[in-house]
Amino acid sequence: MTEFLTVALPKGRVLRAVAPLFARAGADTEVLLADDRTLVRESPRLGLRFLLLKPDDVPTYVEYGAADLGVCGRDVLMERTCDLYQPLDLGVGICRMVVAGVSGRAAPTGVPRVATKYPRIAAEHFARRGIQADVVYVQGSVELAPITGLADLIVDLVETGATLEQNGLEERELVARISSVLVANRAAYKLQQSRVGSLVEALRGAVSGRA
Ligand code: PRP
Repeated sequence: MTEFLTVALPKGRVLRAVAPLFARAGADTEVLLADDRTLVRESPRLGLRFLLLKPDDVPTYVEYGAADLGVCGRDVLMERTCDLYQPLDLGVGICRMVVAGVSGRAAPTGVPRVATKYPRIAAEHFARRGIQADVVYVQGSVELAPITGLADLIVDLVETGATLEQNGLEERELVARISSVLVANRAAYKLQQSRVGSLVEALRGAVSGRA
């Protein structure tokens, strides 16, 4: 009987970018892209079981061993304290974490209020620069905060820049470059070294073979 390796994947945009890498590594990934509501998908070809999760939950499943491996953004790893191996940058999901504010508006005097889904990353960024900031947590549509007066600035992800531009905002500072990385449970990495290692190497080949 096949022992499946369990891989936690984020649903959505990154899944569509990651599926071709797993395909090139030898997995049958049609199951991954099937448009249904099942949250567990199996690829018998490489003996993989995929779990489809909210991106923020991927490190939790991998850290607690419910999944052996996972794919998550560096943004999620930076915001959380996770005890995980990070054997491979997958070179997909590329974007950047920035500070942005209303276009043409001068930097606030005094303590800026900063809205973000990433309170830890934002607080650390301003602390590193020696700037006191009042960080306010919001769950999404972060770009609304400066244009409604909730905050002076935001810290958020930018991919194409369209959301900033269409909401009258401009990038002020780069906080970090972000991409998706393969993460591994520490025990699985040691105890299933040969299977996990082969998959990591197959994915490494798929990443470096990308056009
Ligand atoms: C993300 C991010 C920005 C947007 C950036 O939001 O928080 O709002 O994408 O992409 P762009 O530079 O290509 O416009 P997401 O789509 O995840 O939705 P959210 O606002 O609900 O978090």
